[in-house]
Amino acid sequence: MATSVNGFSKLTKEQKIAWLASHHFKDQQAGIEILKQYWNSDSKLQRLHDEFIENTVSNFYLPLGIAPNFLINGKYHTIPMAIEESSVVAAAGNAAKYWQKRGGFKAEVLGTEKIGQVHLIYPGRTDKLNAFFKMVEPKLNEATLQITENMRKRKGGITSITLRDKTVDLQHYYQLHCTFQTQDAMGANFINSCLETIAKTFESELKNSDLFDPQEKEVQIVMSILSNYVPNCRVRASVSCKIKDLDADKNMDPLDFAQKFIRAVEIANIEPHRAVTHNKGIMNGIDAVVLATGNDFRAIEAAAHAYAAKDGSYKSLSKASIKDDVFTFSLEIPLALGTVGGLTNLHPLVKLSLEILDNPNAQELMQIVATAGLAQNFAAIRSLTTEGIQKGHMKMHLLNILNHLGATQEQKAYFTTYFKNKTISHKEVIAEFNALKEKEDAQVPK
Ligand code: MEV
Repeated sequence: MATSVNGFSKLTKEQKIAWLASHHFKDQQAGIEILKQYWNSDSKLQRLHDEFIENTVSNFYLPLGIAPNFLINGKYHTIPMAIEESSVVAAAGNAAKYWQKRGGFKAEVLGTEKIGQVHLIYPGRTDKLNAFFKMVEPKLNEATLQITENMRKRKGGITSITLRDKTVDLQHYYQLHCTFQTQDAMGANFINSCLETIAKTFESELKNSDLFDPQEKEVQIVMSILSNYVPNCRVRASVSCKIKDLDADKNMDPLDFAQKFIRAVEIANIEPHRAVTHNKGIMNGIDAVVLATGNDFRAIEAAAHAYAAKDGSYKSLSKASIKDDVFTFSLEIPLALGTVGGLTNLHPLVKLSLEILDNPNAQELMQIVATAGLAQNFAAIRSLTTEGIQKGHMKMHLLNILNHLGATQEQKAYFTTYFKNKTISHKEVIAEFNALKEKEDAQVPK
């Protein structure tokens, strides 16, 4: 049963596990064994994982799958994907193959600007604060020179600092809105360090400024933090082909398919319930590559959904159209990704995933990740508007059901053949499994 505990983080790993077992596991020994079964036999590698976070007791595995044949801007990519959902990697592979024969994917980075803000409360006069800001701005930049030195060598750094008056929205509220270029780093630590230095300098300069009377020197720095909303760190991925080449389903005329596909995207554009699921399908592809390359999928998710709602209602992130007999399907999404720093140099599988991608820089990774999202979205809408999603989904899910039933490898092979041309349902698998078991039991000599 759950109780509170003091000093849990100070316990050794074994002590933490013992506490967990005695308070939470019905079968203590079995629970401990499961946790330890996932430890790595290489103690150095295990320690590395232990030290990623606090209170580590085990590792949590996700499959790392490979989606090959992604032709992006004329170059082939093999894409690593870390994801638990059965059909995602298969769908990515199918979409890659489909577009490989139709000119491949195009991708372009539309911007790489990152954002950070110092949020402050100033109860005095706006005109005086504006005048002070004009004077102090060079000093804010100067104060960060040490932090930005390496980034400037790589042609990155702080690109602007502006004072924004937000007092209409919240009494006395202003921001120092800062923009950055962080090159191949995602840049969160760099940005936050710059912001904290800027905030301290702003506060101390204001206190020492003779522009203000003593009672006007009251400023409260509420917080200094990057923004994960990065609409100008954005990438576009697209595919296009002649309508006649869009033979996506043998039972459907290419033009009918294109029109139905576009309708499906239009529905996601005007109907938030559908848009959320539509965009979730995009994020299936995006998150899997983001995770495999050691990037922060929560930041990517938050930014993507904020961008989807930028016009005041939640919409599709992708667009589809027909013009001059050409079908075009595209996706624009903010992606603040890094290929250096963070987990990228630490986690052996992350390093290997980047190697599988031919060690891309951040902009190349943005293009690859957006493409994976577009491919996933294409595969989902193609299935949804033709044979339905369940056929392919259940085909991939079959092994999960069979594993749940404790099927042997022979039984799995039997079921794969049995359901080859049938639509799979959970109920039918169980019924056929029981029937097969009965038949097998009857054959065992008593
Ligand atoms: C399932 O993970 C994703 C889909 O629901 C996406 C969609 O409906 O477009 C298939």
